[in-house]
Amino acid sequence: MGGHDEKDKWIPQSQDGVGDLFQQVLDRRLSRREVLKSAAVASSVAIIASVNVESAEAQRVTTPSFARIEPAAVTVDDVKVPDGYYARTLIRWGEPLTMEASTHNVWQQSAVHQSQQFGYNCDFVGFLPLPLGSTSSNRGLLFVNHEYTNEELMFPAYDPKKPTRTQVDVGIAAHGASVVEIERAPDGGWRYVRSSSFNRRLTGETPMRISGPAAGHDWMKTSEDPTGTLVRGTLNNCAGGKTPWGTVLTAEENFHQYFANFGKFNRNDSRYAAHRRYGMPAEASERGWELYHSRFDVVQEPNEAFRHGWMVEVDPYNPNSVPVKRTALGRFRHEAATIGIAPNGKVVAYMGDDQQFEYVYKFISAGTYNPRNREANFGLLDEGVLYVAKFNDDGSGSWLPMVFGQGPLIPANGFNSQADVVINTRRAADLLGATKMDRPEDVEPNPVNKKIYVLLTNNSRRGTEGQAATDAANPRAQNRAGHVIEVTETADDYAATTFRWEMFILAGLPSDPTSYFAGYDKSKVSPIGAPDNVVVDNAGNLWIATDGAASAIKYNDGLFAVPVSGAQRGNVQQFFSSVVGSEVCGPEFTPDNRSLFLAIQHPGEGGTFEKPISTWPDRVGLPRPSVITVQAFDNRIIGS
Ligand code: FEO
Ligand code: CA
Ligand code: CA
Ligand code: CA
Repeated sequence: MGGHDEKDKWIPQSQDGVGDLFQQVLDRRLSRREVLKSAAVASSVAIIASVNVESAEAQRVTTPSFARIEPAAVTVDDVKVPDGYYARTLIRWGEPLTMEASTHNVWQQSAVHQSQQFGYNCDFVGFLPLPLGSTSSNRGLLFVNHEYTNEELMFPAYDPKKPTRTQVDVGIAAHGASVVEIERAPDGGWRYVRSSSFNRRLTGETPMRISGPAAGHDWMKTSEDPTGTLVRGTLNNCAGGKTPWGTVLTAEENFHQYFANFGKFNRNDSRYAAHRRYGMPAEASERGWELYHSRFDVVQEPNEAFRHGWMVEVDPYNPNSVPVKRTALGRFRHEAATIGIAPNGKVVAYMGDDQQFEYVYKFISAGTYNPRNREANFGLLDEGVLYVAKFNDDGSGSWLPMVFGQGPLIPANGFNSQADVVINTRRAADLLGATKMDRPEDVEPNPVNKKIYVLLTNNSRRGTEGQAATDAANPRAQNRAGHVIEVTETADDYAATTFRWEMFILAGLPSDPTSYFAGYDKSKVSPIGAPDNVVVDNAGNLWIATDGAASAIKYNDGLFAVPVSGAQRGNVQQFFSSVVGSEVCGPEFTPDNRSLFLAIQHPGEGGTFEKPISTWPDRVGLPRPSVITVQAFDNRIIGS
């Protein structure tokens, strides 16, 4: 099978009960493989690496050739980059985004100040060139999400049982997203432009429109909004994606945690089961926003939570634009949405629901992308078909349509419209028999090889008592380190409804018998744990950012380059190491791939205002979530 012996002979050795389960799954696959008579099917068996034919395309690919860094211990409070590169802080929590805004002062913080300053816990980073339509790598807009807040690191003497009104309102204002203009300074590094008229904050209070099938549904109506079409704010925005028409899709992830008192919800109310499937807190919420804002109390305002958990489309080039919650893309703990344009022009959004045993989705638009008329694309994500993925053990897979009236999505099962389907996306996927995954994070098409990479961060409950067992696509019981699946759509068409898949990486320490790096020699790779976000460079290499390496493999989180083709396929190399308590988000390149943006989220998490464990990046006072840039001293393409 091809020239790389190392890649063909890998079979995991069982060391313990976990390994045994893993071995059983493989055995199942192998025996199935033997009975398959079709060479075409057998050749694409998953887990065992596929035939490694080095195509002409693979030969063209530029392979990363930096000197990888060593992983850092979990107490290290600094970032690390390879020789020849430098990292610089671009913008920090609290920095003013307008000329009128106050500079950051933790002793005198207010919601008014915070709503004009860079928010907390930066996650998704999207670079959008300026001017619009250009491919500039010297000037652009940065769209940055602010997923959540660490009140214990933001306020002196914070008491989680008794947050003050000011603390609550600062917290709401520190959520959301920032749009900020950035430019390259005369020294070649990056700086943000405080005076830019593009600069903007979206917060938990910013008015947004609801569009698509759920707009106006009875369950979307509240005492404040009897139309069911307008909502305040966006919360827990994790990762996201950019559209070819220059908008950003930002993902409402763990929205459930803000809605308190579900334990007192009337069990005879038809909305009870719907809320339960999304996991609302039984009593007080973690941040206590319900103390001052009744919309966060599910008993007082039973529908507000239905207005969260969506993908939100924002036009960063128009600071007056109203963000839109695109309900056709379903309601779940959205990690991100990344776009591929199918050969027929349809827009395809790939998405994951980040919770244990939840699903991978995609949406295919009814209309087609118009590259000549930007505004003509603004409604594309309102009409189309949502699909959920089924990964079969034989390496095949299918996208199951989630259409009202089809299959089980009928009135007898409580679905009376497409609005019911999208509001209750998870239950619809349950009924369709989709594959329960190990916490889907980024699901990202690679424009170079047209394959889709599904990052699954971990699932400590996989295969445990009363939970779903291992399967070929989630082969490890108590999966601590996560994995990455490579999906090949039929005919490389993003709009296909069938696919093949194979295991690309089973993350972990190279010494872990169950880890697997596309068949690459494990002794030569960097340890990697808990893959979360990914960006694809112009050569088609993946750059994987992690969240949770500290518990998975006992190192700080980082960024890792990995080629997907050629002799280096699967060779995971660490490029960046982050600070104590943090995860690495973004990642994002400029179009020329010579600048890399990383969001350093929750640095020093685990400490408190009074007892911080990190002082990054200021080296004095509190840690501050920040976006940094990484560049080479000689301005070479990152990693080359
Ligand atoms: Fe907010 Fe799924 O990481
Ligand atoms: Ca994430
Ligand atoms: Ca991504
Ligand atoms: Ca994360």
